[in-house]
Amino acid sequence: MNSSRILIRNVKGLVGVEMPGKNREKVSGKEMRDLDVLEQAFLLIADGEIADFGSMDDCLFNPDTGGDMQVIDAAGKYVFPCWCDSHTHLVYAGSREKEFVDKIYGLSYEEIFQRGGGILNSARLLHDTSEDELCQQAQARLDEIISFGTGAVEIKSGYGLNTADELKMLRVIQRLKETSPLTIRATFLGAHAVPLEYRGRQTEYVDLVINEMLPMVSGEGMADFVDVFCDKGFFTVEDTERILTAASRCGLVPKIHANEMDYSGGIQVAVKHKALSADHLEYTGDAEIQALLGSSVMPTILPGAAFFLGLPWAPARKMIDAGLPVAMASDYNPGSSPSGNMQFILSTACIRYKLLPSEAIHATTLNTAYAMGISHTHGSIAIGKRANIFITKPMPSIEFFPYSFGTNKVETVVLGGRVVR
Ligand code: NIG
Ligand code: FE
Repeated sequence: MNSSRILIRNVKGLVGVEMPGKNREKVSGKEMRDLDVLEQAFLLIADGEIADFGSMDDCLFNPDTGGDMQVIDAAGKYVFPCWCDSHTHLVYAGSREKEFVDKIYGLSYEEIFQRGGGILNSARLLHDTSEDELCQQAQARLDEIISFGTGAVEIKSGYGLNTADELKMLRVIQRLKETSPLTIRATFLGAHAVPLEYRGRQTEYVDLVINEMLPMVSGEGMADFVDVFCDKGFFTVEDTERILTAASRCGLVPKIHANEMDYSGGIQVAVKHKALSADHLEYTGDAEIQALLGSSVMPTILPGAAFFLGLPWAPARKMIDAGLPVAMASDYNPGSSPSGNMQFILSTACIRYKLLPSEAIHATTLNTAYAMGISHTHGSIAIGKRANIFITKPMPSIEFFPYSFGTNKVETVVLGGRVVR
């Protein structure tokens, strides 16, 4: 809780505002185009929350008699709700640039994994790294994503691949939750890959996830969600169903890695088990779109991984035109998307996936907030929501933001009512 107040005046445009009583949990289809922007506006923050906003003509607060009120003049600048990054693996040890070069020589992501690299390489590194060191490395990544305007982030385990190391990762995420100004949600991803010692005995590894890891993770309240990498070469639909059924008994809601490598059936499993989101989605055809329509699953595309691995672009335009909501997150991880820059995701949404800037902003704010179960408090500018906002550098228009890719357009970041950058 923060008792001081911040008044941001003369805002060129307050982006993603929602009027009292109109708060939506997500935006779908055509609705994604309509982004409400209040021009020449003010925003008042009190006790860590958005307390008021409106037109400057109606701003009754006098900056000279504000008392303890911090006043920021945002002439020529926009105020956005912070990005919500609903899919990351940002607790990891070291980096994997050697495999990056292997890929340039022509090896595929799956081939590297089959040789014992990839996720298994990160698992070995993580095993040899202390919790303190993992925390420090992750903290530096959190500081960096804040500087790009992220205000909430989901972080997965999944580089442990044995009970002790999965719990170690989740403890690190727990520590970050306690110390970071970011809103953080933790996801248990024990079924990220089959460790080498279980090769040829995949079902036994799934048994371990279900019988040993899940009870400990949920018993100690260490995860908000459960995830499975349901894809060709990783976990089958059957494995996924077994894990999700067990997880639901522990009260864990699923978020699924699906259809990145093939039409894996992962999307249909996500729908059947009422997952909060199905993520990646490069292999999404008409059957998958039909399955998603009318479900509560947030289709979440991860442009960083598609860009980095040279995957086909998921059919985002077709999905939105069919009436679906779409979210876009960074997938920040050492193997397929070593960047947590949501400004790059915003630009790629427009450049490669042909989303309009307004759709791309919804995809990276309110819809990703939904995909991490926090859209009642995050993802838009609405009275009572947590004051996670950023002020841009001076900009000619909102469209300039995704258009001018590659530079940091964020100047000031407020998280929980505190200026953190
Ligand atoms: O979301 N697809 C599976 N898992 C991660 C990659 C993890 C890694 O390569 O370290 C992803 O892309
Ligand atoms: Fe991922």
